[in-house]
Amino acid sequence: MKALILSGGSGTRLKPITHTIPKQLLPVANKPILFYVLDQVRDAGITDIGIIISPETGAHIREAVGDGSMWGCGITYILQPEPLGLAHAVKTAQDFLGDSSFLMFLGDNLIEGGVKNFVREFEKRSPDTLILLKDVPTPSLFGVAELNGKGDVVHLVEKPEEPKTNLALVGVYLFTPEIHKAISRIKPSWRGELEITDAIDQLLKAGKEVRSHILTGWWLDTGKKDDLLEANRIVLDDLLKRDVKGEIDARSKVVGRVEIREGAKVENSTVRGPASIAEGAEIRNSFIGPFTSIGACTTVEDSSVGHSVILENCRIYRIERLEDSLIGTGVELQKADERFKAVRLFVGCDSCLEL
Ligand code: DAU
Repeated sequence: MKALILSGGSGTRLKPITHTIPKQLLPVANKPILFYVLDQVRDAGITDIGIIISPETGAHIREAVGDGSMWGCGITYILQPEPLGLAHAVKTAQDFLGDSSFLMFLGDNLIEGGVKNFVREFEKRSPDTLILLKDVPTPSLFGVAELNGKGDVVHLVEKPEEPKTNLALVGVYLFTPEIHKAISRIKPSWRGELEITDAIDQLLKAGKEVRSHILTGWWLDTGKKDDLLEANRIVLDDLLKRDVKGEIDARSKVVGRVEIREGAKVENSTVRGPASIAEGAEIRNSFIGPFTSIGACTTVEDSSVGHSVILENCRIYRIERLEDSLIGTGVELQKADERFKAVRLFVGCDSCLEL
């Protein structure tokens, strides 16, 4: 069994931040989303991994993931010259995949509890495809499954205007090589992409066995700012353990499940968990509230930050209440006007804002 992780695409919905950082490398609880994906693939016992990269994301992803030795896995990078769809990515990876069955995992998706059990189920039952579904409030944003009275999938539609069910396709799929034949039969969709949803629908039409599993745990698709903040909230809440390695002075309070990594400093401040403060960050005369991640070497001074993700090398100065915000790397934020009390921001990298 091989794995194919999709880390190409253009990250349009997370611009401006994705001008400089591929969305799969955006951090959740101070760790890139793609690293959780790699953890979950490795935990499922798969060590031969292909990663789809694009001309824009390639260099960043290669630099971050390297040769895979951090996970004890071998990595093959596969360049997809244009983001022409998930099925096009599989087509591009055909040499790597050969006649192997494979797990396909979208590099910006995460699921609670990992994928090990689904890989086992696929190996044991040997269907042609195994898909994961999740009951969601906004199915028209996803691929949607229609089931018959027995609960079998009968039809799949990509982002339907009028979805027949609330069951969205999760970005984790298990395929046999049958999928390649199905892909060769599909045409680009209205959005100009070769949709994997259409290829699986082809398998259904050809009478192949498509098993499905409805997820009950959380599923995070980190495609937009609020999704990323929500992913940060859930991962901090669910996976973070208290671990204080940095320095905390006697005037500070660190309450609950808080991670303070090596070289970080907290002075005359309160950090209320769940929260993560990365290596070399400095928190001075400030309040860091729950569900917040402060990136490496970022300084927060005379400020209060809550429910936010701040990337590395930022400087936040005299901001009374920064909340629900996603701030790129190297951003300087400081208050100049007393009228601004609470701010919610989505700022790309290397910006400078006086509020
Ligand atoms: O997140 C689940 C949804 O993912 C499914 O419900 C949909 O059926 C499926 O089509 C997909 O929809 P999105 O429109 O959200 O996919 P997105 O364009 O965000 O791409 C998903 C990942 O795949 C992302 O990490 C980028 C990567 N990608 C995307 C395209 C289009 C590639 O590597 N190459 C591509 O050509």
